Amino acid sequence: MRHLIPAWLRVTVIFLAIVWLAEYFIETEGGWAIVEYPLLQLALLVALLFLISAEVILSAIENTLFKTLNAEAKERYMRAREERIKKYDPGAWMKRMFGSRPAKEEQALELDHNYDGIKELDNKLPTWWLYSFYASIIFGAGYMVYYHVLDGVDQQGEYEMEMAEARAQIEEYKRTATDLIDANTVQLLTGEQDVDAGKSLYAANCAACHKVDGGGGIGPNLTDDYWILGGGIKNIFNTISEGGRSGKGMIGWKTDLSPLEMAQVASYIISLHGANPVDAKEPEGEIWLDEDAMVDDVNVRVIDSTEMEIIIEDDPVDMDLSTH
Ligand code: HEC
Repeated sequence: MRHLIPAWLRVTVIFLAIVWLAEYFIETEGGWAIVEYPLLQLALLVALLFLISAEVILSAIENTLFKTLNAEAKERYMRAREERIKKYDPGAWMKRMFGSRPAKEEQALELDHNYDGIKELDNKLPTWWLYSFYASIIFGAGYMVYYHVLDGVDQQGEYEMEMAEARAQIEEYKRTATDLIDANTVQLLTGEQDVDAGKSLYAANCAACHKVDGGGGIGPNLTDDYWILGGGIKNIFNTISEGGRSGKGMIGWKTDLSPLEMAQVASYIISLHGANPVDAKEPEGEIWLDEDAMVDDVNVRVIDSTEMEIIIEDDPVDMDLSTH
């Protein structure tokens, strides 16, 4: 008996769908679920056997029932089935979707309008076009409700959400991938955790020469405005990483400390600024002005029509930064 869909095709399609579902829903570590779970192979084999036997049983039942019919009923049954097959025949279906009347049937379609010899045909709209049109109406209604009634997230909102997510990821990446820190990218860490970590690193490695309070011993005072090798987080980080001038006793710490640890101890040193410890060492080096520090006063004095003097008064920072 001819079937609309042959049994072998039905079994194959259903079986592949089951395999696909299994692969889709069973979590694996990157590989195929069938390979990773031998039990799944067995289950799929059972499913396949089940599908085949179901087909066999159904067709046997159909055959037996068919044989019990009398001749006239048999014929009616066959005719009904042929019709059904014809209805779903791919060729007929294509024709319904795309078919327009052939040109030689034009006469039948002609409308009674005739404008200077230009005639109008009453062609039916192609089915595919009609259905796309209906679909666009349904889509449009959904679109309107979502965006204009329910205040759905529009493109701008989606963009902002994704940017926020990306920024969070970058922050997370910067926090974990500490090797990204170098003298150019290092930033002052003000978080309590970082400064505390810097403090214990300092006590363990640096206090011997710079004193616990940073007042200086073998090494210079780290709490004043004067720096031999430059102040500010970048210079300090660089000094810690690369060491001081040769022969002076300050080694480079980059082999002992991680970039994050150097950033932490550098930030701790900056937090000591202005602490004025007792018995502090004399200032060494030059006064360091932070370019980013606030300019206190700017005076412009016009000397004559071609010259003027700008006086920028910028007192060295002498307040305790650690309390800010
Ligand atoms: C063995 C003694 C010694 C140890 C230990 C030591 N330093 Fe130094 N440090 C020095 C000396 C000496 C200098 C001066 C270097 C120069 O003049 O070039 C210096 C300079 C510095 C400077 C630059 C100061 C300036 O005025 O420019 C910083 C910052 C510094 N040390 C931080 C540290 C840190 C942080 C540690 C611990 C990880 C540390 N030092 C450990 C001896 C030491």
